[in-house]
Amino acid sequence: MSAVRGRFISFEGADGAGKSTQARLLAERLRDAGHTVTLTREPGGSPGAEEIRKLLVEGDPARWSAEAEILLFNAARRDHLERRIAPALAKGHIVISDRFADSTRVYQGVARAELRDLVDRLHALMIGTEPDLTLVVDLDSPTGLSRGLARQSGEDRFEELGASFQARLRAGFRALAEEFPERVKLVDGAGRPEDVAARIWPHVAALL
Ligand code: TYD
Repeated sequence: MSAVRGRFISFEGADGAGKSTQARLLAERLRDAGHTVTLTREPGGSPGAEEIRKLLVEGDPARWSAEAEILLFNAARRDHLERRIAPALAKGHIVISDRFADSTRVYQGVARAELRDLVDRLHALMIGTEPDLTLVVDLDSPTGLSRGLARQSGEDRFEELGASFQARLRAGFRALAEEFPERVKLVDGAGRPEDVAARIWPHVAALL
């Protein structure tokens, strides 16, 4: 990558933990401070990856095998990285992605099957990029699940997998914060959005 490089920040967490709101609030705060921000999301974030998103989040939960699903997430991520994230970083932007590779590590690698090794090998081969900072918005599972389903987005494929799945997701994200303590920061998602944002800010300030 060129001499100029922006900063890459991802938000992670189980469904309904409030990470999308936090990604938006952080983008606003950074823009107000004069930074150029690219706010994006996964699965999706580029036209091709948004098409793949529809294959992933809509329809029957048993639509794909775990392996086929991992390949689709990686296909979407590769396109997102090529077309959106890498060009923005090369221009010096701060890229904020609502989910990135840690979602695959947790959703596909821990919660659904013992496929973490496959997830890691595919990531190394096809993606090979980690965020500079990952903020895990951590919220106890029943609260998060009811927030997620209350939205009735038509994209509830993963939410519908139930409360015990959500609890395993939470544990998976917490374990990642221990595995990668330099990069992955756990943030308490309880309380008002502005309270959660205030917990997030010191981590971002340390990066800039
Ligand atoms: P997202 O749009 O973030 O949903 P939400 O706003 O409800 O959190 O993600 C859609 C779903 O896809 C979500 O249930 C998490 C799941 N997902 C994976 O299983 N693996 C992945 O690699 C990614 C990026 C998302």
